[in-house]
Amino acid sequence: MSSPAAARIVIDLDLPGPTISRHLYGHFAEHLGRCVYDGFYVGESSDLPNEGGIRLDVVEALRALNIPNLRWPGGCFADEYHWMNGIGPRSDRPGMVNTNWGNVEENNHFGTHEFMALCELLGAEAYVNGNVGSGTVQEMSDWVEYLTRSGDSPMVRLRKANGREEPWKVPFWGIGNEAWGCGGNLSADAYVELARRYATFCREHDGNKLYRIAAGASDDDLAWTEALMKSISTLGGEPRNIFQAISVHYYTVPGTWEHKGSATEFGVDDYYRTMIKAQDIDRVLTGHSTVMDAYDPKRKIGLVLDEWGTWWDVEPGTNPGFLYQQNALRDALVASLHFDVFHRHAERLVMANIAQTVNVLQAMLLTDAGGGLVLTPTYHVFEMNKGHHDATSVPVHLVDRPTPYALEGKELELLTASASVKDDRALVSVTNLDPGAPADVVLDLRGATIRGHQGRLLTAPELQAHNSAADPQAVVPVPLTDVTIDDRGLRLTLPPHSFATVELDL
Ligand code: AHR
Repeated sequence: MSSPAAARIVIDLDLPGPTISRHLYGHFAEHLGRCVYDGFYVGESSDLPNEGGIRLDVVEALRALNIPNLRWPGGCFADEYHWMNGIGPRSDRPGMVNTNWGNVEENNHFGTHEFMALCELLGAEAYVNGNVGSGTVQEMSDWVEYLTRSGDSPMVRLRKANGREEPWKVPFWGIGNEAWGCGGNLSADAYVELARRYATFCREHDGNKLYRIAAGASDDDLAWTEALMKSISTLGGEPRNIFQAISVHYYTVPGTWEHKGSATEFGVDDYYRTMIKAQDIDRVLTGHSTVMDAYDPKRKIGLVLDEWGTWWDVEPGTNPGFLYQQNALRDALVASLHFDVFHRHAERLVMANIAQTVNVLQAMLLTDAGGGLVLTPTYHVFEMNKGHHDATSVPVHLVDRPTPYALEGKELELLTASASVKDDRALVSVTNLDPGAPADVVLDLRGATIRGHQGRLLTAPELQAHNSAADPQAVVPVPLTDVTIDDRGLRLTLPPHSFATVELDL
């Protein structure tokens, strides 16, 4: 192991910044591989403990994260999903082919009622993604009415006939998905017209406030964001109230789409490339925010990163269309790095949804049909960062820091951190991205008296370490013991490739 790098992080605990919405810790469940079926939903006849077919150990694990919202039914699937096929007696529901994901047959047994029941069990707010690509305006409008209207109307009568008397609350509504690709291969201008039209007919029934999210760009496509912003801008005045947010997608794929690399078998350069790619989320969010600022300087329109995370080659022997991948300590550090960036962008970035919650891409949970449930290293980052939900961000300055690592003309900052304050507590998150050297970090805590502290650490001997049914505790949080009082605040020693949180009593 190399000698420790010295760092000093100044944290101004009495300088309140924007609120870190709990929705930055949001989730995503698509009809893809074993996310919905086998993951969330096993059916009422399953031997596994379930309520209405929903797996209760999965619910319990996600409740422990205070899961704030769940996006469904896609992704690409959203634009070929016809919601009317997923209501009524399950045996009568027509099937369809899931052409995006494995060409398998979808039986529609998990539909609107099952999704809303899942949200209720989780205590999560619903983010329903409507179908623009192959659905009609009427179909989307009817879905909103079916879900959210009370009293008496054609859709209300249909909902009641299917067993649900009261309307649900649905706060978040997506107007299609990736319209530039699987959502219809549209040009930005063509989609902009559709977004305005579909959003118009997503009505607010009986006080259900709808936050309509227009399908946004991928990565650096700033022109897409600009086209959407232009279409609702009033040249510096209030934006037109047609949709309230714009999405963007960003995946950490350090290789090519054809050769993304293995989730667990990789070398140190692969690790650096991954972290450099993950760190680039900051530049991408800055780009979209800057475009939005030009049209909406008061930041009324939200930016929603409703798909993010690592994307590796599927695990050997699994269906290539199911996107099932393991999740190592490296993935956890990708997540902790993203959260620091999200906290810095909290004024414009109002929601983020990791792709995806169970059994797909950078999952929190890996399940097997026999009842196994593994909490991934990424799960633990979400859990350790819970204290940031709806907390006030405070400025963090890396005054002294390790020399960035240079690779292939790019640089990686080896230390990343963020902090927030809520009531009489503060939470500091710090990640040491150096794979070979510990970091001696002074937290220079200003603006408050520290009455106590508790630290937690997530690391493992190897970056490739991961949890599995055979070894579910290979990467789990432990108390951070290497913390001492320093003249300036606290001094911590972080092992190589580690993530730590320090909770401060103020
Ligand atoms: O999350 C998997 C897929 O990635 C989603 O369906 C799509 O929106 C994106 O391309």
